[in-house]
Amino acid sequence: MKKQDDDNTSASNWNAFQKDKKRNVPSNAAKMALKLFDNRKGLAIDIGCGAGADSLLMLEQDWSVIALDHNTLGINIVYENLDAEKKDNLYIVQDTFENMKLHTCNWLNASFSLPFISPKDYDDVWQKISNSIAPDGRFSGTFFGNKDSWAPGNTLRTFHTKEQVIKLFGGFEIEWFDEREREGTSIDASRVEHLKHWHVFEVVAKKVQL
Ligand SMILES: C[S@@+](CC[C@H](N)C(=O)[O-])C[C@H]1O[C@@H](n2cnc3c(N)ncnc32)[C@H](O)[C@@H]1O
Repeated sequence: MKKQDDDNTSASNWNAFQKDKKRNVPSNAAKMALKLFDNRKGLAIDIGCGAGADSLLMLEQDWSVIALDHNTLGINIVYENLDAEKKDNLYIVQDTFENMKLHTCNWLNASFSLPFISPKDYDDVWQKISNSIAPDGRFSGTFFGNKDSWAPGNTLRTFHTKEQVIKLFGGFEIEWFDEREREGTSIDASRVEHLKHWHVFEVVAKKVQL
């Protein structure tokens, strides 16, 4: 039996995704967070940055960006194409979510990346994320929903109900919450597209001042 969609646990399995230009667009959550920051700048961390669409959006708005991924193929290409001034604002970290240590930041973005953590590691990773965001800073990112077609029996990825997503944001004010279901596709490590049912939550939340 074919392993389910290659499971994407190995960094090199993400090469095909990162080279697929049609999937490399800024996320709605990152665009919404930028709007809510209303011209404020600071340090952003983009975890699971992939081919760097959200990192680039941040850099274009003069944020300093730490872009982290266990596969830095895509973000290295972004770096090569930046002008010298923007290059100074981008720091690339090759690491896993499970192992990473995070600086205190004003904006932490995690678009379509956190669901690829296994449930056994999720709480620890979420704690690191939550702790890294300074008061008045924001989280933007994606959670996979329990009605996603990848969910049944999957122990390598993490899926949430709406209530479980909301519960993660103690100490935050949720400013934007978008739940979507649609029929679409995913791409595996061999660049083959698979039909799937997507169920995702996108969230922007502000850390409450202490
Ligand atoms: C679906 S892509 C999303 C990329 C980008 N954020 C976007 O929205 O287009 C998931 C990204 O997370 C990275 N990733 C998956 N699991 C990871 C892990 N355990 N540690 C670090 N990066 C991981 C992959 O390499 C990939 O670039």
